[in-house]
Amino acid sequence: MRNLEDKNLPRHIAIIMDGNGRWAKKHALGRVAGHRRGAEAVRRIVRACRSIGIPYLTLFAFSSENWQRPAREVGALMRLLSEYIQSEIEEIRSNGIRLNVIGEWQTLREHIRQLLEDAMAKTAKNEDMIWTIALSYGGRDEIVRAVKLIAEDVAQGFLRPEDINQSVFHRYLYTSDLPDPDLLIRTSGEYRISNFLLWQSAYTEFYFTDVLWPDFTEEDLNSAIREYQRRERRFGLTAEQVKRWEKL
Ligand code: IPE
Ligand code: IPE
Ligand code: MG
Repeated sequence: MRNLEDKNLPRHIAIIMDGNGRWAKKHALGRVAGHRRGAEAVRRIVRACRSIGIPYLTLFAFSSENWQRPAREVGALMRLLSEYIQSEIEEIRSNGIRLNVIGEWQTLREHIRQLLEDAMAKTAKNEDMIWTIALSYGGRDEIVRAVKLIAEDVAQGFLRPEDINQSVFHRYLYTSDLPDPDLLIRTSGEYRISNFLLWQSAYTEFYFTDVLWPDFTEEDLNSAIREYQRRERRFGLTAEQVKRWEKL
């Protein structure tokens, strides 16, 4: 069913799940109905990634800028999130998935914060797949936050300015325990990063599709992975160097 080659699978897939509103409009429904269908796509894709054996999946669920949407839509999204966590947590737990949340999620309503904390605690020992949800997340906010934390550590004498380098910086990001994404998928035909994983996507492979998020299937995921498998990642080297390096 999968017909994917096991060779050269991405370790970390990140997805900008976009197009719920346009899906709803296309079906003459309200935006919230689009988000509801979007949640079903989340369920499908989490299951698919787990069954393929992807160790890291990161989904962009709500950006720091999405707070500026109409209060009704924001409220509905938060309700959907809480329903989703409650109905799925048992399946997530029993399938070896560890839930992780990045962003300013601690500022969410107490009820949701508690739900997320419980879900993370319940799945903390799982190791087969780390599923990260980016909630109230912004890449620029994340970088500024890291700079502040570094400045505090320097001021307190825990860190010397001359010791700051890329790997030290990485430790101050929300994603300090995740590898950089290998493949970043964005649905709905938009060709932009919208403030997602700015630091981490320096050498990520991008895949854009016109499919709206609620319509995104396991087969669409497979197509993205196959395309990734055909690409040659060079990290600034020449093709010849990469070939030699792969043989090692
Ligand atoms: C993505 O779908 C979900 C969130 C950003 C929360 P959108 O709601 O952005 O859908 P479009 O872009 O309006 O179609
Ligand atoms: C990005 O989608 C955020 C999420 C998918 C959660 P947006 O719909 O908010 O992005 P823009 O506004 O089209 O750039
Ligand atoms: Mg959008």
